Amino acid sequence: MTKIIPTLFIVALFVWACGGGEKNEPSSGSSAKEKLAQRFGLTAFEYENGIGPIKEKIELGEIDMIKAKSGEKIFTEKCTQCHKLDERYTGPALRDVTSRKTPEFILNQILNPEEMTKRHPEVKKMLAQYATQMTFQNVSEDDAKAILEYLRSVNK
Ligand code: HEC
Repeated sequence: MTKIIPTLFIVALFVWACGGGEKNEPSSGSSAKEKLAQRFGLTAFEYENGIGPIKEKIELGEIDMIKAKSGEKIFTEKCTQCHKLDERYTGPALRDVTSRKTPEFILNQILNPEEMTKRHPEVKKMLAQYATQMTFQNVSEDDAKAILEYLRSVNK
């Protein structure tokens, strides 16, 4: 019991000290993430979630299997000429893409691939690696969201 009180005190002091440090971050201008993004001329949001029409985090619930089914159809029509789920093809394998990229990033990649390859450092790297530019496949935002549901449904 006697040891608990000093320990609590030290923990409290530590929390207080660390909390104080963090409080200074926003006023000093930018977090590490923002600084990294700035180096590429992007906002922290764009760095993490891509550049394009999706400018805010979206709420995702349980996978909507009806949407996923229609997404699969669109994917087969418009994406499988370049993408497979499990193998590298003209573009990267996509089964686990929802673990590697945020949903917003995936939507922006589908809806705005040309600007993504020009301005986003990670997509630029992919372009170099795959030596092909992904082109816009004329998908609406709703179609892109259906494809996203499909990609979520195949990732296991
Ligand atoms: C002309 C071939 C081509 C077509 C068609 C195409 N892609 Fe791509 N895709 C690529 C290439 C190449 C890359 C990587 C380089 C780049 O972004 O240009 C890529 C990248 C991606 C990425 C990012 C992958 C990652 O690991 O970050 C996603 C997601 C994606 N494509 C989804 C789609 C979807 C969904 C469709 C259908 C609407 C589609 N692509 C159609 C060639 C294509």
